[in-house]
Amino acid sequence: MSDKRKILVTYALPYANGSIHLGHMVGYIQADIWVRFQKMRGHDCHYVCGDDTHGTPIMINAEKQGLKPEAFIAKMYDEHVADFAGFHIGFDNYSHTNTDENREIAYDIYRRLTANDKIASRTIRQLYDPEKGMFLPDRFVKGECPKCHAKDQYGDSCESCGTTYSPTELLNPYSAVSGATPVMKETEHFFFRLTQCEDFLKGWTREAGRLQPEASNKMQEWFEAGLQDWDITRDAPYFGFEIPDAPGKYFYVWLDAPIGYMASSKLLMDRLGRDWLEFWGKDSNAELYHFIGKDILYFHALFWPAVLEYAGFKTPNAVNVHGFLTVDGAKMSKSRGTFITAGSYLKLGLNPEWLRYYYAAKLNSRIEDADLALDDFINRVNSDLVGKYVNIASRAAGFLNKRFGGKLADTLPPSDLLTALQVAGNEIAELFEAREFSRALREVMALADMANQYVDEQKPWELAKQEGMETKLHEVCTTCINLFRLLTIYLKPVLPKLAEQVEQFLNIAPLGWADSKTLLLGHTINPYQHLMTRVEPKQIDALLEANKQSLQAPTPAPAPAAEAQQYEAIAETISIDDFSKVDLRVARIVDAKAVEGADKLVQLTLDIGAETRNVFAGIKSAYKPEDLKGRLTVMVANLAPRKMKFGLSEGMVLAASFEDKGSGLFILSPDSGAQPGMRIR
Ligand code: MSP
Ligand code: ZN
Repeated sequence: MSDKRKILVTYALPYANGSIHLGHMVGYIQADIWVRFQKMRGHDCHYVCGDDTHGTPIMINAEKQGLKPEAFIAKMYDEHVADFAGFHIGFDNYSHTNTDENREIAYDIYRRLTANDKIASRTIRQLYDPEKGMFLPDRFVKGECPKCHAKDQYGDSCESCGTTYSPTELLNPYSAVSGATPVMKETEHFFFRLTQCEDFLKGWTREAGRLQPEASNKMQEWFEAGLQDWDITRDAPYFGFEIPDAPGKYFYVWLDAPIGYMASSKLLMDRLGRDWLEFWGKDSNAELYHFIGKDILYFHALFWPAVLEYAGFKTPNAVNVHGFLTVDGAKMSKSRGTFITAGSYLKLGLNPEWLRYYYAAKLNSRIEDADLALDDFINRVNSDLVGKYVNIASRAAGFLNKRFGGKLADTLPPSDLLTALQVAGNEIAELFEAREFSRALREVMALADMANQYVDEQKPWELAKQEGMETKLHEVCTTCINLFRLLTIYLKPVLPKLAEQVEQFLNIAPLGWADSKTLLLGHTINPYQHLMTRVEPKQIDALLEANKQSLQAPTPAPAPAAEAQQYEAIAETISIDDFSKVDLRVARIVDAKAVEGADKLVQLTLDIGAETRNVFAGIKSAYKPEDLKGRLTVMVANLAPRKMKFGLSEGMVLAASFEDKGSGLFILSPDSGAQPGMRIR
């Protein structure tokens, strides 16, 4: 029998309703690392996901933007795909839930559940918005808390006192969609009979490996509280799949969302010319793992296994749950700028592998919240990745290239150190397998310390100066490169892009886990090129600034139509020499303050690389100082300084406007990637 495992991994499908943020990334990265590890071990492992596109919030947001839901979700899809690719999430297939495949499988499952007597029809009473002509989900009814009388609370719970209630208990209720007073209305809904699945679920939960201890405990609480049948119906208007033979009734988004895992697998297997039932069929010998965050355990550990079981499919081998992300110990916050979008991180040019490494260094197999402590992030990445790991290669590569034509020694004397690093691969593999990433990386860094200690002791820079030490120098450098190669294997699930660069540098085929059993000898490597830069604290400042949303975000007045403008005449022609007298530089606004006694001015501190400048800019009417901090802009750097009432202004920032500034004032910003001090020519 082959020990090659067949493994299918999913991560929760993100709502096509907003941008991916660094909280989401915890789970996508966790599952990605695990999958990359399994692939390096040679297993037949696949990672599928896709956007979760249905439901009322998406329908309403699309409408607000004047888009059809299909167009809205297509736009979000492109954004999500780019964000995931940016963080090197190696999905084997990424689709979405509004596909024909998903509809067909959802219908098939619904019919099988009906045939198994697991669907019941009941008349329910629900709040209805008479103006908008729609039933209102709990979250779309707002009103006064019946207990503490806090205003503007949602229909399911009070954010002020924490009481949970039903939307009918709210005082002075109103529809969050139209503001109308909701009325009670009857409607027929279909239910999944979860109450009949209790014995199955109790057995399933008890089976070894299915759930983490914390999740099993939660399940026990739910069993004790008593299961209830699950309402899988929503009335039109709704963006989703219409229920077969029930016009105007739609599947609740949470019914077809996990079915999206199957549809995404089917699309992948169709492409590979394989049968998706290899992984999902009742008698499949494949392993199926769902990675999710702790907020959606109920759906994945109760409804989903029961639906699969009674529709005749394989149930998951395990649901692997992770905790939530906090930033500097607190919930992500838009006003503090810690609600950081994946897109902003990438756009500001921060290295995605820094975050992958940091998250991995924090993750374990338990459902614990993980904290992104920003100072710790900077220190950890700089000291571990740049200081310890990358350093080993740079310390040896120069000598190899200069003195040995890039060729490694043909043989090495027996080395306890190399053997120790090779053997450690087994334990590190066990830790990755068990999702104990933080411990795995601690091991790897302990090995990196040993490697650095070896270099410190052997002092290749001294060997290089001594006569007759040629062979010794060659051995030491060859050992360093091999230590570095082994560390790269162990870090590859976490740092796939960096590993690729190392493979190019070492001039070798993609590394698999089994490559740790061999050494690289008598082989010519390429010249060393810098592998990773340090995180700069100012990059983190810029990230926070970019994500800061002032709570009363001003809605800019619409600019008058361009036709109505009197365009200024184009100025007199100048020569290129005239132009090049103006020294324009990319500048980072490191600080921006209002100026007391000047309504129009903002005092800017500009970083232009080699120096910082103090500039007073007349842009107060268009920008709040706090919104400017961290931004890049363009300044005239060689303008004669001007003495003003408030101090010396050492240059000028550029802004666009019509002659009549009533239609707005817009400061310039360079494209992403530009750095302070770059000259604009
Ligand atoms: N669409 C549903 C899942 C359907 S799965 C069939 C959903 N989407 S979500 O966009 O709200 O969340 C996607 C994943 O991100 C979930 O696993 C959720 O737990 C996770 N996270 C969202 N915010 C998070 C943090 N702040 N921290 C860590 N994970 C978080 O739920
Ligand atoms: Zn209350």
